[in-house]
Amino acid sequence: MIVIMGASGATGGAALHSLTGLGVPVRALSRDPHRLLAGLDGPTRRLVEAVPADAGDPDSLRAAFRGASRVFLTMANGPRQVEYELRAVDQALAAGVEHIVKMSAPAAEADSPVAVSRGHHRIEQYLRASGITATVLRPYAFMQKLLLLAPGVARAGLLHGTMGGAACNYIDCRDIGDAVAAVLTRPELAGGTYPLTGGRAYSYPELGALLGELLGRPVTYLDLPPDRFHAHLVERVGMPAWLATHVVEIQRLAVLRPETPDDTATRLTGRAPRTLEAFLREHLDAFR
Ligand SMILES: NC(=O)c1ccc[n+]([C@@H]2O[C@H](COP(=O)([O-])OP(=O)(O)OC[C@H]3O[C@@H](n4cnc5c(N)ncnc54)[C@H](OP(=O)(O)O)[C@@H]3O)[C@@H](O)[C@H]2O)c1
Repeated sequence: MIVIMGASGATGGAALHSLTGLGVPVRALSRDPHRLLAGLDGPTRRLVEAVPADAGDPDSLRAAFRGASRVFLTMANGPRQVEYELRAVDQALAAGVEHIVKMSAPAAEADSPVAVSRGHHRIEQYLRASGITATVLRPYAFMQKLLLLAPGVARAGLLHGTMGGAACNYIDCRDIGDAVAAVLTRPELAGGTYPLTGGRAYSYPELGALLGELLGRPVTYLDLPPDRFHAHLVERVGMPAWLATHVVEIQRLAVLRPETPDDTATRLTGRAPRTLEAFLREHLDAFR
């Protein structure tokens, strides 16, 4: 049995759809399994066993991992993420799980300039030291999170950021889901560390130009110093301060380490990743 943590979220949900799309049954964990099931269509629901689990509650994890052979470990960012994921690894090991696929992030290093990535590094190290078969996925920025920019574009035709002209390797979460399904179902891929990017990196000025073309009106990129961008995210977008700090750090990372696409996603899934243009066309109404 394959267990998906964070199955109601961006990457867990994508993995659920990719696996069930292949006809693979899954056990999907959520703090609210009824809400999770209610969001699925009938054919998908037939392949999903929705089970309650809260990473703050080890007993619920122990019960949720019983009888599982493989786990997709993905978890919302938050102040207790490392503690939660280490606990999930412990419970999976105790339950006899054989293979864990860990959702990580770029620059997962001990001295990473991104605090969340330092946390991912700790979890990766813990997994590797445990001796279990561990596969690590390090996707770049999710296209789906660009929808957070939609209200600013719709209201004022503005994109805010602190990336200057640096480019970002956006990837569609559905391609991440397909990559998760590949590494969970093809034993020859287990144990690797895989960066995941889309087919082309875009800077914010390029994103603004593309959006402007699709919308038929100008979309301008406003580059702010990191502290002003942080204040914008907290005061105008309504983000908690820790998340705004994370977004600033991620954008500065793109400046420090120029991002260029690679073909790992294509190698894992057997086809080219979805394009940013296709994603924006699909969600254009949100930006109008
Ligand atoms: N955003 C990006 O561009 C990006 C890029 C690279 C890597 N990443 C990494 O990708 C990972 C996953 O991101 P995501 O966007 O898929 O996450 P997400 O959608 O924000 O959240 C995933 C799930 O975590 C679950 N969760 C939260 N607290 C929990 C708890 N106490 N116990 C059990 N489950 C809990 C929630 O499920 P329930 O509410 O149903 O319990 C939620 O659906 C992150 O660790 C992030 O660092 C993100």
